[in-house]
Amino acid sequence: MRTTTGWRAQGPGTTLRRTSLPRRDLRRDDLAVRVDHCGVCHTDLHAIRAHGDGLLVPGHEFTGVVTETGPDVTGFRPGDRVAVGNIVDSCGECAPCAAGQENFCREFPTLTYGGTDRHDGTPTLGGYSREYVVRDRFAYRLPAGLDPAATAPLMCAGITVWEPLRALGAGPGTRVAVCGLGGLGHLAVKFAVALGAETTVVSRSADRAAEAARLGAHDFVVSADDGELAAARDRFDVVLDTVPVPHDLGPYLKLVAMDGTLSQLGHLGPVTVETLDLLIGRKKLSSAGSGGRRETAGMLGFCATHGLTADVEVLPSARVGEALDRLDRNDVRYRFVLDLSDLD
Ligand SMILES: NC(=O)c1ccc[n+]([C@@H]2O[C@H](COP(=O)([O-])OP(=O)(O)OC[C@H]3O[C@@H](n4cnc5c(N)ncnc54)[C@H](OP(=O)(O)O)[C@@H]3O)[C@@H](O)[C@H]2O)c1
Ligand SMILES: [Zn+2]
Ligand SMILES: [Zn+2]
Repeated sequence: MRTTTGWRAQGPGTTLRRTSLPRRDLRRDDLAVRVDHCGVCHTDLHAIRAHGDGLLVPGHEFTGVVTETGPDVTGFRPGDRVAVGNIVDSCGECAPCAAGQENFCREFPTLTYGGTDRHDGTPTLGGYSREYVVRDRFAYRLPAGLDPAATAPLMCAGITVWEPLRALGAGPGTRVAVCGLGGLGHLAVKFAVALGAETTVVSRSADRAAEAARLGAHDFVVSADDGELAAARDRFDVVLDTVPVPHDLGPYLKLVAMDGTLSQLGHLGPVTVETLDLLIGRKKLSSAGSGGRRETAGMLGFCATHGLTADVEVLPSARVGEALDRLDRNDVRYRFVLDLSDLD
């Protein structure tokens, strides 16, 4: 067993405690990664709030440098820059894994934190820490030319919106709406625009209209304005809903065009749907999360080609509590990223 330093949750509050953490000794196909930058996802906030007694170290979108490799690793060497997302292992044998959709593994993929290692049964501890040990298949080469801090959020927020955009055919001739202009939302806008889709932001207030335009959005709808919502009825082939709280899907389903899809990404849990909202227009309700290895690598390649990364505010990791509080208040443009070098 090796040790590293990181930030653990203590109860449901946003004050995390600096602590020494165990990391496994490298298996034959493992990499040790020095974590340099880790994004602060709204899921981290949900996890901290729901946290009970166990050891919880959040963080599931990070970039860093390989420091050591197991004997069977051929794809990486010490010194390589890598990115890791919210999945760190899967069975590798089921139909979804064979199809490159490790995120849908029948045995459920191993999550970067809050999961259970499939070999030794230990709880996984996340990237709010200086070192992570990861199976080589779930580390991705960080493309040259992309800023490591601004690339970290691509690994959860990015891939979570990239997969549904791709699966639902977003591109020239399609109309995409993105509900909630936060970490996921701002990347969804950048991706949809870069893919060639006509892209609209649906946000709670008009405050973010100029920001949405700066990100490339072609149109803006204020969700709190019933008149604007009504005018946008049946307008979008793809609606990505990133709202982080339980809410009525009716108003968002009404935005979907005939045969179009609402993909609910933000709130994961039971929902109530009025079937008439689906019937009228043969609309589809879907969801998505994370991504398979192939699409993750594809997203990073696309981002390298288009020079596309997240808009980030980088803070020393000791200020993680402040980042979580401001994220909770919707006071971030558009992703906090922790610089873990202060843990040395
Ligand atoms: N499916 C997955 O695998 C997956 C992966 C990552 C994250 N998530 C989830 O996705 C959600 C969004 O994550 P994020 O990191 O993008 O969060 P975020 O940065 O806080 O963005 C969420 C956005 O939703 C809107 N919003 C916030 N509170 C709201 C409320 N009470 N009612 C309506 N709209 C509200 C805000 O946009 P406006 O101000 O523009 O309205 C906000 O910027 C979280 O619930 C997170 O857990 C899911
Ligand atoms: Zn996340
Ligand atoms: Zn599998």
